[in-house]
Amino acid sequence: MGTEHFDDKAATWDDDPEKVRQAQDVARAVSSAVPLGDATRLLEYGAGTALVTQALLASAGKIGGVTLADNSPGMRARLSDKVSSGVMPPDTRVWDLDLENEPAPSERFDLIVSSMVMHHVHQLPTVLEAFAELLADGGHLCIADLDREDGSFHTHDFDGHHGFDRGDLATALQQAGLADVTIRDCTHIIRDGVTYPVFLAIARGGGSATLAGG
Ligand SMILES: C[S@@+](CC[C@H](N)C(=O)[O-])C[C@H]1O[C@@H](n2cnc3c(N)ncnc32)[C@H](O)[C@@H]1O
Repeated sequence: MGTEHFDDKAATWDDDPEKVRQAQDVARAVSSAVPLGDATRLLEYGAGTALVTQALLASAGKIGGVTLADNSPGMRARLSDKVSSGVMPPDTRVWDLDLENEPAPSERFDLIVSSMVMHHVHQLPTVLEAFAELLADGGHLCIADLDREDGSFHTHDFDGHHGFDRGDLATALQQAGLADVTIRDCTHIIRDGVTYPVFLAIARGGGSATLAGG
């Protein structure tokens, strides 16, 4: 799948109140799980229109720095609009980054957040290893995504993951060099009358995995 699907969706992404609610739920779960302060260097990967970062900023106030990465030109155009219009802080950086196909930049981040992106990633170990490399000592990775589903979630052309088994993801995070893995319930998405649960996986450096929640 190329970037065309999200390029086309970018202009109206924020018009869907359910997307805003989901992003707020994810931000609330992240804020309650990890420390956020004025020294926190945040990377949102697969940021889309940065609804999650917007909600994080609304609850945390000023943070150390915001970098928003997405491989969709349409989404990056929306992100740049939000920076120039003052919705995002003026020093926000917008990156064209695809960690499946590019090396991790040399910068380090205290918090990496990714919401509803990993099921689109084919080379999951490659991207998780890049996250491990991008994290500063003691930094946190927060991944929100679908629990394993039956394939009904995507009605468009889709060749990614039908959600994730939490145990398998915990193992993949550990194999990528991340640790202190916990996975908990986070939010849900209702589509065509079906409710799809969404988890939040949190990880940092070397240790054991714990599954929490249902
Ligand atoms: C379902 S949208 C989620 C957007 C946003 N995180 C949210 O929760 O509203 C998935 C986003 O991930 C981006 N994406 C997908 N694969 C990617 C990749 N390999 N590298 C960077 N971004 C990617 C898409 O362009 C899209 O903006």
